[in-house]
Amino acid sequence: MQLNNEELKNKINEYKKKLSVTVVAHFYQRDEVFEMGDITGDSLELAIRTKANKSEFIVFCGVGFMGQSVKVLSPNKRVIMPKVACCAMATMIDGKQFDVSVKTLNESGISNENILPITYINSDVEVKAKVGEMGGMVCTSSNAKKIITTALDEGKKILFVPDRCLGQNIANQMGLKSCVIGDGTNPADSDIICFNGFCSVHQLFTIDDINFYRKKFPGILIAVHPECDPTICDASDFVGSTSQLIKYIADLPEDQKVAVGTEFNMVNRLRSKNTYVLSSTKPECPTMNETTLQDLYDILKSIDEGEPLNEIFVDENTQKWAKIALDRMLAL
Ligand code: 13P
Ligand code: SF4
Repeated sequence: MQLNNEELKNKINEYKKKLSVTVVAHFYQRDEVFEMGDITGDSLELAIRTKANKSEFIVFCGVGFMGQSVKVLSPNKRVIMPKVACCAMATMIDGKQFDVSVKTLNESGISNENILPITYINSDVEVKAKVGEMGGMVCTSSNAKKIITTALDEGKKILFVPDRCLGQNIANQMGLKSCVIGDGTNPADSDIICFNGFCSVHQLFTIDDINFYRKKFPGILIAVHPECDPTICDASDFVGSTSQLIKYIADLPEDQKVAVGTEFNMVNRLRSKNTYVLSSTKPECPTMNETTLQDLYDILKSIDEGEPLNEIFVDENTQKWAKIALDRMLAL
């Protein structure tokens, strides 16, 4: 028998009382799934807060790399995902492509000792492990600037994967030179060398969208996520990670209009008035939207029946090096 959303929510709450589980939900989840989260937040908050959590099972509503990060930081916890949905950006680079990128830098005269790799948290655990093994670390959009500032103190070239936009935006903010592998420039001439990955959702925002809102509502503010193209970030009033956007918008006077360039579910629950989605196309993340209340219910049922589905496993060596890369970030 098909249960409606209210019935599903009641059953989910019953399982949450009965089992040693904590439901974790990223801000981009559908509203009805987000409401079920015991811990909610952006990727950095979720990584930190689940680490301190005591439940046997973490039921993670988000995308695959986030569940992997929880497993890496807390190998003794059982991490279960209602849907093992894959962030499109994270699938753009695997371990082999990471090695090819390092080789490209070597061919332009940069030796491994002079490369400090940084991977955005939106990457597979295999890539995080490679980065950790080479002395590098993970960053999120909340702390990328701080991580890059620290990394530059070592006097090395930064290989930034997978998001070319985040890498270039931070370089622009800090007045550093950046390039994208394969753009025809010599990597040796840049401080930050970016892999050519991107988020298709955050590529939806255009200069035309910004011009449209500025013309329609003179005085409107434009706030965007740093996964947007550098031309969009340069033309905006504020650039910030998910949690930084939430704070920026919460601190605005009630009558201040703002158009926001990030994922739809999140923008939609920011403020009831004077908040607009900076796009004529609905910027929904297809993979974040894959998880439904029914999936959450099914996964809790499978835990209750003693045969949890969709459990995340990471092999010992990968776990060790990926943890080193994540811990270097958390130490900062
Ligand atoms: P946050 O690190 O801001 O949570 O972003 C994750 C993400 O996937 C953005 O598209
Ligand atoms: Fe990945 Fe983009 Fe979705 Fe974020 S919004 S999870 S970067 S595909």
